[in-house]
Amino acid sequence: MIEDIKEVLVDNKKIEARCEELGKEISKDYQGRLPILVGLLKGSVPFMAELIKHITIQVETEYMVVSSYGGGITSSGEIQIINDLTISPQGRDIIIVEDIVDSGLTLDTIIKLLKYRGASSVEVACLLSKPDARKVEVDVKYLGFDIKNEFVVGFGLDYDQLYRNLPFVGILKEEIYKK
Ligand code: IMP
Repeated sequence: MIEDIKEVLVDNKKIEARCEELGKEISKDYQGRLPILVGLLKGSVPFMAELIKHITIQVETEYMVVSSYGGGITSSGEIQIINDLTISPQGRDIIIVEDIVDSGLTLDTIIKLLKYRGASSVEVACLLSKPDARKVEVDVKYLGFDIKNEFVVGFGLDYDQLYRNLPFVGILKEEIYKK
């Protein structure tokens, strides 16, 4: 697997350190409240796991299965909810936990949906952002790292459902996805 990687963009140490900072920030900001962290599956799993280790207040965790990419490296622009929350967001403080914000379409859709369903606040924690790829603006309150506009894999991010288990974020060699 590792031989398919051209460049490591964010190594594991940096990810852990940033998650610790973000966890502390969330703990401070939500002191005295009980937020629901809503992880968007499947990509948010490693980030969610690392982030919640550093949150020192009570939180609930929920997941939604959301799909926007058909399996290649370009977005379909169409967001499908395949599995929904198991509890109501009505009157709750929500923190959406996501792997990456690219065009912004996925997060924009989910933020609007949760607000429409009556959440009292909706914020976003996202490991990565590609600011140059944005089609709609999304306010990411808890951001890990800005990266260049290139397709990345690892730490939850996949290419054709593979490479999610890499402990870092990296760029694939072009011959892998141009096969
Ligand atoms: P957006 O709706 O265009 O912001 O895309 C968000 C979703 O697209 C993410 O949750 C990822 O699943 C996927 N995605 C965007 N960029 C990448 C990438 O560089 N590598 C892998 N998946 C990506």
